[in-house]
Amino acid sequence: MNKEENLSCHRSAETHVPSQELQDPAPRDHVTVGRRSFIRGLGIVGATLLPASALLMRQAKAQDQSNGSLAKGDADLLRFAAWAELVESDLWAQYNELGGATKPNDGPPNVGNSPYKLPLQNLDSDMPQYITDNNDDELSHAAFLNAYLGSHGAEPVNLDQFRNLPGSTATGVNKQKIGKRLTNLLNLNVDLSWYTRYRSEENPDLGATFKSGPFYILNEPAIPLNDSDTPPTTVVPSPSIPAGSPAQRIQAIANTAGFHFAFIEQGGTSLYPTLALKATSEEVLRILLSIGGVEIDHFSLWHDKAGNAVSQPLAGVIDPENPSGASFPDLNVRPPWPVSAYGLNSPRPTRSCRNRAISFFANPCLPVR
Ligand SMILES: [Fe+2]
Ligand SMILES: [Fe+2]
Repeated sequence: MNKEENLSCHRSAETHVPSQELQDPAPRDHVTVGRRSFIRGLGIVGATLLPASALLMRQAKAQDQSNGSLAKGDADLLRFAAWAELVESDLWAQYNELGGATKPNDGPPNVGNSPYKLPLQNLDSDMPQYITDNNDDELSHAAFLNAYLGSHGAEPVNLDQFRNLPGSTATGVNKQKIGKRLTNLLNLNVDLSWYTRYRSEENPDLGATFKSGPFYILNEPAIPLNDSDTPPTTVVPSPSIPAGSPAQRIQAIANTAGFHFAFIEQGGTSLYPTLALKATSEEVLRILLSIGGVEIDHFSLWHDKAGNAVSQPLAGVIDPENPSGASFPDLNVRPPWPVSAYGLNSPRPTRSCRNRAISFFANPCLPVR
C-alpha cells in the first residue's frame, strides 16, 4: 500500500462528526446517561450488527465461562496438547534417565550412563542439565493440562494402556519402567528436512522445494540399547578417532539423540500456534500460547546443539554397526548446502522477505508481484 492509499484508508476510517455537535455541545447535565443504560444501549447496537449464530455462540461461551466449564472444542484442543505432552514426557524421561544431570532439579538423584553422557557432551558440555530441564518442562506441561481439564469437568488424557514397549536395558535406566515405555528410541528414522529448510533462503510458502542431501538418520538408536553399546570400557570418541572406528557407535547414537531432541521440539513449536488459532476461550488461548512459547525455546536450544554434530571438529561420524543408516557430514563444506551449518540458530530470511526488510519471524511474506 502506498502512502496515499494509506492516508485515504485513515480518512475513510474516521468517524464523521457533524460540525454542529462540535460547535454547540449540549450542556453536560442534559446528556448524562446512566452507566448501565449506556452499556445496555451498546449491547443493543452490537446485537443488531451480529448474525444470530454469532450471538448464540457468544451466549454459549459466556455461559461456559460463568459456570467454569470448557467449550467442547477448547477441551479437545487441550486434550490434543495433553496427548502430545505425555508422548514428549515419555521420550524425555528416557533421555533423562541415561543422559540427564546427576542431580536433577526435581526427583531423586540420577545414576545416568556415563559412556552415553560423554558423547552427548561432545555436542555441548551442558547437555545433561538441558536434558533434565527439558524433561521437567514436559512433565509439568502434561500434569498442568490434565489437571486443568479435570478441574473444568473435562476428561483428562491417560495413555497408560499403551505403555508396553521394551526400552533400553543399559545401566542408568529406571528398571521398573523396562517394558513399560510409550515410545521407542531404539530404532529411529529422524526427519531432518527442517534443518536444511531453516538454513535456506528459499521459502516453501513461495513454492520452493527442498532436496534431501547426504544427511539422514535411518534405523539408528538414540539411546544405548543395552550395556553392550556402552560397556564401562567404552572409549568415548574424540575428533582424533577416525570415522568408522568401533568407538564411534556411541557418538552416532548421541548425535541421533541431538537431532531427535530438536525434532521433538519442532513438533511442539508447530503444534501450539496451530491449536491456538482454534481456541475460543481467552484462558485456553493463554495456556496454548504460554506452553507453545516454551516449546519454541526448546527447539531453538536444540537446533544450536545439533549443529555441532555436522561441524568440525566432530563432523564425519559414521556408526560402524549401521554404516548406511546415519550420516553426519561436515555441512559447512559439503554441497549442496547453501549456508554455514555452524553458529546459525535463527531461520534465514527468505530472499523476497529480506528485500522488503521484513523478518521471517515478523511476517510470512506474500509473493512479490
Ligand atoms: Fe511440552
Ligand atoms: Fe517440548
